[in-house]
Amino acid sequence: MVNLTIDGKQVTVPKTYTIYEAAREAGIDIPVLCYAKKLLPFGACRVCLVEVEQMKGRLIPSCTTPVTEGMVVTTTSEEIRKVRKTVLEFLLVNHVVECPVCDKGGECELQDLTYEYEVVTNRFVGEKFHYPTDENNPFIERNMNRCVLCGRCVRVCDEIVAHGSYSFVERGFETKIATAFDRGLHCEFCGQCVSLCPVGALLPRPFKFKARPWQLKEVDTVCGYCGNGCTLTLGVKDNQVQTIRFNDKNGVNDGNLCIRGRFGYSYVNSDQRLTRPLVRKGGELVETSWDEALEAVANGLKDSKGAGIITGARLTNEEFFLLKRLADAAGVTSLDHSGGECYKVLTEGVKDVLGLTASTGTFPQVETADVILSIRSDFYETHPVFGMVVNQAVKRHEAKLLVLADKKGKFTKLPNAETLLTRPGLEVDVLNAMCVALLEGGKARTEGVSGIDEFKQAMAEFAPARVAERTGVSAEAIVAAAERLAEAQKGAILLGYGLPYTPASRELGLAAANLALLAGLADQEEAGLYVCGEKANSQGAIDLGVLPKEDGLGAQAMLAAAAEGKLGSLYIIGEDPLTTYPDGDRVEKALANAGFVVVQDLFLSPTAAKADVVLPAASFAEKDGTFTNAERRIQRVRPGITSPGEARTDYAIFGALLEKLGAQAPAGPAEVFGELCAGLADYPQIGLDEIGPQGVVWGGEKLAPKTRNLVAVGGGKSAEGRFLLTTGSSLYHSGSTTTHADGPLAAVPEPYVELGREDAAELGIKDGDSVTVKAGGVDLKLKAKVGARLPKGLLFAPSHFAGTGLNRVFRGEAVVAAEVAKG
Ligand code: SF4
Ligand code: SF4
Ligand code: SF4
Ligand code: FES
Repeated sequence: MVNLTIDGKQVTVPKTYTIYEAAREAGIDIPVLCYAKKLLPFGACRVCLVEVEQMKGRLIPSCTTPVTEGMVVTTTSEEIRKVRKTVLEFLLVNHVVECPVCDKGGECELQDLTYEYEVVTNRFVGEKFHYPTDENNPFIERNMNRCVLCGRCVRVCDEIVAHGSYSFVERGFETKIATAFDRGLHCEFCGQCVSLCPVGALLPRPFKFKARPWQLKEVDTVCGYCGNGCTLTLGVKDNQVQTIRFNDKNGVNDGNLCIRGRFGYSYVNSDQRLTRPLVRKGGELVETSWDEALEAVANGLKDSKGAGIITGARLTNEEFFLLKRLADAAGVTSLDHSGGECYKVLTEGVKDVLGLTASTGTFPQVETADVILSIRSDFYETHPVFGMVVNQAVKRHEAKLLVLADKKGKFTKLPNAETLLTRPGLEVDVLNAMCVALLEGGKARTEGVSGIDEFKQAMAEFAPARVAERTGVSAEAIVAAAERLAEAQKGAILLGYGLPYTPASRELGLAAANLALLAGLADQEEAGLYVCGEKANSQGAIDLGVLPKEDGLGAQAMLAAAAEGKLGSLYIIGEDPLTTYPDGDRVEKALANAGFVVVQDLFLSPTAAKADVVLPAASFAEKDGTFTNAERRIQRVRPGITSPGEARTDYAIFGALLEKLGAQAPAGPAEVFGELCAGLADYPQIGLDEIGPQGVVWGGEKLAPKTRNLVAVGGGKSAEGRFLLTTGSSLYHSGSTTTHADGPLAAVPEPYVELGREDAAELGIKDGDSVTVKAGGVDLKLKAKVGARLPKGLLFAPSHFAGTGLNRVFRGEAVVAAEVAKG
């Protein structure tokens, strides 16, 4: 620690602090423009100049100067004020002053400083720039005439997003921020640069002229999309979410968001939302009263042929709790979530080895990991903001990044990244071979680990040399990666998961946990194994046990039973199985042959259109309660708007159904939160309002394994053919909900199939061409996306879009043989 004096106040801070950080901690305000908490010090603007007694004769930038013992700092004096005012005058020399029409008005840092320092005239005269405004993309307006060259956009895009869209070009007075070749912005549109721009040079286009900042009601909540659980702040006016506001004070995402969280909010305002319950009469879905609809659902749940309930994983913990109570009240034992496979089965695999069904560490711990293994390069696509933590680990702290995947992705382009490119469907084989390499090479941590001999015997077929032959990853690379991981002081294995990845879920969970154990990561003080569910509350669904009872059916078994006419009713909540579940033909049969189908959702999805009763539900922006993210962080979800028409929260619907069944509904989410925590040993015993802005991580920052038991696991299954087709997530979409959101749709408006340049050239296919992919007896009509990501012979089609027929091709396989041709 270092002791110093700031404005006469004694301050003690860590020696890594700058003067600015020390002052901030002491509650002393120093103005800044180029400084941003999450970026490395830069020192571009000179607005933060202060006087240091030991450095007399010049003023010192406080944001870049480290504290030293005994330093005496003055942050305000007549001279400092004069110099800051001069700095502002310089900044305003060529800055167009358009405050009346600039969307940043009212929250512009330059405007605020100009006001505070009373810069009413300018002694300097210079030419104003007349750069054309870049409006070539639907997300971000770039008006470089307003830029103050603080470099925050350049740095955030490089240091955190790792996209590197911007640089400073030219010199002196001509300096400006430009994109490659000074063309329009073309990037992943996460909006981080917009969040950090202190002036109106970068603005979110969807919010243009919607409201002045002071007209917005700000509501802190949690993103409703993925298991990253980013906190965000809704900007609400006229009962509509008008924008997402930058807020780096809550949660652990430092205000970082991906395109889905930043620009994917419009679906909550959509006029396509369901607003009244519907019931099928004479073959048509017609509007009805809540009472009639709920009566029908309550009767359906009591069907003598049995009922099944399948829910999505975007309900709050409190809603899951009520749903379980509802299932009990109706005597329904077949209850499951998210297809019943994917994340649930993955955590079952991890549990067999480590006795845990959750990640062992927290996200921020990964920033200082020295070795990271990402299983599937598209981890950045399923959990982008956690991916940004990985970017920082690699770029700032020089972590070694190992990527085990069937295609290249964003991670593979990072410096210090090494990609183990495997034949599709065989990631488990490579993980197994890494375990075998550690055991054979004497590098495995085996203390306290049981089942070693049986494991060694059963895993003989996964010797690295043999695995190399079938996966295409060299034996040397497998051994080196395993050893690197075992040598890590602080290592992390990341496994992002979701519905498109159901095949071999259990095997992947087992294999990753075996490796975490043998490499010694599971027992490290920080980081370890990260199992990350796809949806906002996938972890909550596991924690609360939204699972079938012993005599009940899982989701896939329910669908199979319904398809055979053996299930009286099916109640589907927040899911569109017809679009996203594997084996779409079976789902269709299940919906046709179940005696009675209820769908509770925001939109009339393809699944809802087949239902007997449709209940209009609320979005995340209308809910009160908690989500638990993929690092076990329980965070507050708060309502910013009321639901359209008669739509209700899932919580209110379950409560009303409980009453229909003669049971009592609890008063509100606060009461239920208390009850659910009391029933879960690991959950904190606190009230809903005691959850602070950073949330509460159940089990603490480090979750120690309860067991250390190696479990042998079989390999994966690939396919043979000139082309192999795989499916998964796109960065721009999350499940099918984003296909109702303007932002993600503007980036990726339609389904596509991706193929490598070499294949495309051989087939005469160009980017954007219409192509036919034939696989599993199904013809898929898709747009071609040609790039450098996919190895020769591999095709990839994301799973988000309704009507593509992709889930009729995949019936439980990770990869299928396919043909592709233009037309
Ligand atoms: S939107 Fe994101 S990726 Fe695009 S330039 Fe800004 S920070 Fe970079
Ligand atoms: S565009 Fe904004 S963030 Fe980027 S350098 Fe200019 S003022 Fe700073
Ligand atoms: S989609 Fe996931 S990563 Fe993106 S902002 Fe939302 S929670 Fe964060
Ligand atoms: S904030 Fe310190 S130099 Fe810009």
